[in-house]
Formats: sequence, C-alpha cells, structure tokens
Amino acid sequence: MLFRLPSFLWRRTRHRLHVRLRTLLYVTIGGLLFAWLCLPYDNTIRLAIRFNVKRIQAALGGRPSENWVFAPPRRPINLREDALVIVKTGYGTQQRVQAWFESLSDKSELHDFLLVGDYTSQPHKHFVYRGQELPVHDVVNQTLSQKVLSNQQMHPRVIKYQELTAAIESGDKEHSLELAKSSGWELDALKFISALELAYAKFPYKKWFILVDDDTYLIQPSLKQFLSQLDAEHPYYLGNVVGSFSARFAHGGSAIILSHKTMRNLLLKNQPVVSRAHSETLSEPWGDRLLARTLIRTGVFLDERWSHLFSGETPRLSKIRADRFCSPILSFHSLHSPKEMVATGKLYQDVKKPVLWIDLWEMFRAPAPWRSGVQTVRQNWDHVGDPETGDPSTVSTVWYGVKTADECAKKCKTHSKVCMAWAWSPKFGNQCRVSPWMTVGHEAEHVQSGFNEPRVKKLEMNCFPY
Ligand SMILES: *[C@@H]1O[C@H](CO)[C@@H](O)[C@H](O)[C@H]1NC(C)=O
Repeated sequence: MLFRLPSFLWRRTRHRLHVRLRTLLYVTIGGLLFAWLCLPYDNTIRLAIRFNVKRIQAALGGRPSENWVFAPPRRPINLREDALVIVKTGYGTQQRVQAWFESLSDKSELHDFLLVGDYTSQPHKHFVYRGQELPVHDVVNQTLSQKVLSNQQMHPRVIKYQELTAAIESGDKEHSLELAKSSGWELDALKFISALELAYAKFPYKKWFILVDDDTYLIQPSLKQFLSQLDAEHPYYLGNVVGSFSARFAHGGSAIILSHKTMRNLLLKNQPVVSRAHSETLSEPWGDRLLARTLIRTGVFLDERWSHLFSGETPRLSKIRADRFCSPILSFHSLHSPKEMVATGKLYQDVKKPVLWIDLWEMFRAPAPWRSGVQTVRQNWDHVGDPETGDPSTVSTVWYGVKTADECAKKCKTHSKVCMAWAWSPKFGNQCRVSPWMTVGHEAEHVQSGFNEPRVKKLEMNCFPY
C-alpha cells in the first residue's frame, strides 16, 4: 500500500519546491547577466547580439531626425579652435598633399593639421599652409619603435619599411617611389594608432579629431553643422560603416571622426589596449579595422546612425540612395589626382550651408534632369557607376540582350524597388544595368542612361520640409 502524505504536508512540500525553483531561476538570470557583463566588449557572442539588437532598433525606430541640418546649432563650435585634422599620407602619395591644402577655400575655418606618413619630410621642404610649416611625421617609425614590436625585426613589413627608408636616405627617388608604390598600402596600417597618440599629445584640448587620407575632401559647412549637434564629452566614433558584425569599422578614406572623450578614454585610460593594438599592427591588413577593434575593446562602437553622411567616392560617383536623398553629405574620397582635388575645392568654395546628397546635381551646374518634366535619356553618359569596365559585380542587376535603351528604361520602372538609375550599352552584349542608387556620373561612349523618374521625384518631395 502506498504511503499517502497528509494534505497539509504535501502543500508545504509543494510550496518549498516553488521557492527553490524560483530561486534557481533568479540565480540563473543573475548568472547570465553577470556573465554578459564579464564578457569582454570584443567577445564574438556579445558582438553578434549587439549587432542584431541594433539592427532591430534601426528597423523599428528608424533614424534620428535630421531636422538639425538647417536648425541653429545646439553646441556651437568653431572648427579652428575645436577640430584637428590628421592627414594621412605616404612617400608614394605626397604629391597630393599640396593639392589637399589648395582645395581649402579662403574661408576655411580648419586651421590645425597634423601630417602623418611613412617618411619624414626634410627641413625646408615641409608643406606650408597659411604661413604654417607642416612637417610630415613618420608615425610608422613610431609604431615600429614600440617595445612590443622589438622582437619583430625580421617581419616582412618591417623590412619593407627599412628598405624604403634606406632608399629615401640614399637620395634615389625613382627607387623610393617604386618601393612606396608596392608597399605603401601595407605600411598604411601601421600609421593609425601612432597618429592618434601623436595628435593627442600635441593637441590634447581639441574637441574633435578628424582622420582623413590625402585623397579625402571634407565639406566643411556640412561637417560643422553636424558636429555642432554633438557633445564631444560623449565617446563618439563616427564614419562610413563597412565590415561584418565582428568588426564594424569606419572606412578610413571616407573620414573618421573621434570625439575628445573617445581619445582620452583610449589613450589615457586604456594603455594595455593601445599596446595590444601596436602589437597587432603587423598582422592587420587594414588600419581602419584595427582602429575599430581597438576602440571596441574600450567599449566604444561605431555609431552607425550617421554612416550615410560620409561618402567613400568622388563627387561624380557618390551613390545617391533612397535612404539619404535629403541627408547632408560631409566627405568625398578617391580624389587621387591633385587636379581633381583642387577642382572639388573650387566647386565648394562659396558654399556656406550644409550640402545634401541631392544637391550634388547643382554642384555640377547641371539642372537635375528629372525636373524638366520630359522623359530624359542622356546620350554618352552613365548615371549608374563605373562605365569603363562594364563590370556587373558593382551593380545589383544586369540584363543582357536588351535591344534598346527604351527597353532598359522600362525594365527599370517595372523593377522599381531595385532601380533608381539605368544605363544601357550596345557593348558587352546589349547590357542593361540598373542600380538602387544614382550618380551624377561620367561621360561614357555609346552608353545611354536615365532614371526611374517617378521614384526620384517622389523621394525628392520629401526634402521640401527643410
Ligand atoms: C626610427 O628613427 C630613428 C631615428 O631616425 C632610427 O634611429 C630608428 O632606427 C628608426 N626605427 C626604425 C624601426 O626604423
């Protein structure tokens, strides 16, 4: 016969069981939370969860309002006092630097600059801007002089750097340039962290540190208006996002902006993280990614809400997408030739208000074609992208065997979601390319090009509240 518990005892046991289960639940939740807090910022699981939470947030909440574009600044700044521009160059690209400064207008507020590279400019041969002598600081040397790298003398990159230095010292220009061309990009990764250290040592009071390449152009009215909305005592890391969830980083060429707080936090409070960055610099192909990894370890992540303000392309090839039509644009990249850089400076020299992506048209003094009211097909022009290669990998959708430009235009309209601009070419097998962006574009022989006009007009309407 089964022994039966009196009912009051049974109830008490059940109650005890409940209490135990509840305690177990709390302990588990507490433990998980504690484990989460103990995970380093750069732990893969933590990064993956963060990435997805941010994605959901962006999908639910949209982007912060951009009403600030033409509103009075919330925290007025003066670029002269508050900003430092770190211009990253190299022996192989130094001819761009003079043009970089020439591209600044007479009204440029930017005043303090730090030139960093993989060589040292000789006395009396420094760059000069408004009477200021600006030497090129060899930050690669500074990185390689770190104790953590003292046992790496035989590393291929160290040898490449030493060969370059020796060639420059010997006065053999041709050989130096050859070496710089072949290994310059590899040495670039060694500049980032030392450049920031030098910048902070020389200009510790600056609110904003802006890191650019010698082929990056900054649109100052946009930049100023943007920064005057933000608090430099908040740890900001801003730029054009690239990379997978495990290291979302700001693309160096599109300009990287760090607030004072971020710099102080990294350089004064996280010395072991800085040392680790130096020690990883020889194995990291991209300095901009190394910077992101380093900042993540201090708990500072790229603020992706502002990524669309930065362009990684030239003015003509900057991709005007639906999500940024009426947003300001504050940088260009890939202005490789000094001529292009100076021309870009001329284009923007009289601009006083923030520039929006859709304004890129006006800068070329070309009326925006879709405003004319008639369906426009442009001859010998390409509004999609790089017309030279016919490379289909750079656009989302390509059809072959499309017989006429009209037919391509129709395809664009029927695939409205993926098509903002189209380009048709009899070359490459009657190729019809469509892209979810449009560019001011380039001349391109035999190519005909146009837009998804109803869509473009509708998107443009949204800009009028400004
Ligand atoms: C850095 O520069 C100093 C002084 O010119 C030089 O003595 C040193 O060897 C350089 N370091 C490296 C790693 O090349």
